[in-house]
Amino acid sequence: MKFLVTGGAGFIGGNFAHYMVNTYPEDQIVVLDLLTYAGNLETLEPIMEKPNFKFVKGDIRDRELIDHLFAEEKFDMVVNFAAETHVDRSVEDPEVFITTNILGTQVLMDACRKYGIQRYHQVSTDEVYGDLPLDRPDLFFTEETPIHTSSPYSAAKAGADLLVQAYHRTFKLPVTISRCSNNYGPYHFPEKLIPLMISRALADESLPVYGDGMNVRDWLHVYDHCTAIDLILRKGREGEVYNIGGHNEKTNLEVVKTILAALNKPESLIHFVKDRPGHDLRYAMDPTKIETELGWKPKYTFETGIPQTIDWYLTHRDWWEHILQGDYQNYYKTMYKDRP
Ligand code: NAD
Ligand code: TYD
Repeated sequence: MKFLVTGGAGFIGGNFAHYMVNTYPEDQIVVLDLLTYAGNLETLEPIMEKPNFKFVKGDIRDRELIDHLFAEEKFDMVVNFAAETHVDRSVEDPEVFITTNILGTQVLMDACRKYGIQRYHQVSTDEVYGDLPLDRPDLFFTEETPIHTSSPYSAAKAGADLLVQAYHRTFKLPVTISRCSNNYGPYHFPEKLIPLMISRALADESLPVYGDGMNVRDWLHVYDHCTAIDLILRKGREGEVYNIGGHNEKTNLEVVKTILAALNKPESLIHFVKDRPGHDLRYAMDPTKIETELGWKPKYTFETGIPQTIDWYLTHRDWWEHILQGDYQNYYKTMYKDRP
C-alpha cells in the first residue's frame, strides 16, 4: 500500500513516518511537508535513504501541486498531520491557522475524491472539545462531547473535523478522525511545554509557567499515538471518530517539577508568568472506544515515557540545538541542492 503522510517533517508526523517505514517495509511512505518553522528535515534523516520512503516539499493548500502528486503517486491511504499547531502563535496571528488547517484539509479531500483512496484520516485533537472544570475530575471527553473551542487553533481544527464529516456524509469519502490528547516524546519542537522546559533547564534558564501552573493536560507518548492511528487506518470504521489518551493527567507544575527532578535542577528555576489568554483549564480523554473496539493499549505511562523522552533529548542535543540556533532551516538547502 502507498501512504501519503502530510506534515511528516513535524513532531507527530515525523514519528509516524519513522514508525511506518520501519514497521511495514513492504508499504511505500511519501511525506509531504511545507517545511514551515515547525518542519525539520533532520527529523527524517534516519529514514531518508530507506527504499520505501520519499520526501516531497509542498503546501497542502496548493491545489495544482496536490493534484499532480495524487495523479502521479496513486495513494491508497492519506494521513493528514499537516497543520499550524501552537496555541500561542494562533493567538498572535490566526490567519494561517485557518488557511492551512481548514482549506488545506479541503484541498486534500478534493484530491482524494478525484483520484479515489481507501481511507482519508484526519489527525485531530482533544482541544476541539474545549476544556473541563478543574473541580470535576469525574468528567472526561468522549466522542459524543460537543465541539466547543477556545483558541483560533482549536477552532480551526474543529472546522476541519466538521468538513471531514461533511465529506463523508455528502460525498461518501471513506474518512476517519482521531482526537488525541497532548503528546510528548522524541522530535518535539522546543516551543511546546515539555521540550521547552527540558532545553531551558539544561541551560539553567528560567522556566516560564503560565498563570498558577494548575492547568491540567492529559499526556500521551507519541509512540502510542502512532500505534493508535495505525490501528484506526487498518481496522477503524469509516466515518467514525476515535478519542486517544492514556489517563495521564498532570498539572503543568507537576510536569515541570518532574523534569527538574529528573535533571537534578533546582525548583528555583520556575518563574510564574502572565497567563495565556483563554487558557483551557483541563483536558482529559476517555479512550474506551478505541480500547474496546480496536484493542488499542498504550505502551507508556507518564512515569515510563518521561524518563525515555528526557534521555532522548540528552542523547540528541544536536537535533534541538540546531533548532534553537536556527541551523535546521539550512538543512533542506544542503540536503537538496543537488536534487531539483
Ligand atoms: P508540528 O507543528 O510539530 O508539525 C506540523 C507540520 O506540518 C510541520 O512539519 C509543518 O512544516 C507542516 N505544515 C504546516 N503547514 C503546512 C502546509 N500548509 N502544507 C504542508 N505542511 C505543512 O505539529 P505536531 O505537534 O506534530 O501535530 C501534528 C498534528 O497532530 C496536527 O494536526 C495537530 O493538530 C495534531 N495534534 C497534535 C497534538 C500535540 O500534542 N502536539 C495532539 C493532538 C493532535
Ligand atoms: P503546549 O505545549 O503549548 O500545549 P497545549 O496548549 O496545546 O496544551 O502547552 C501545554 C500547557 O503548558 C498549557 O497549559 C500551557 C502551558 N505552558 C506553560 O505554562 N509555559 C510555556 O512556556 C508553554 C509553552 C506552555
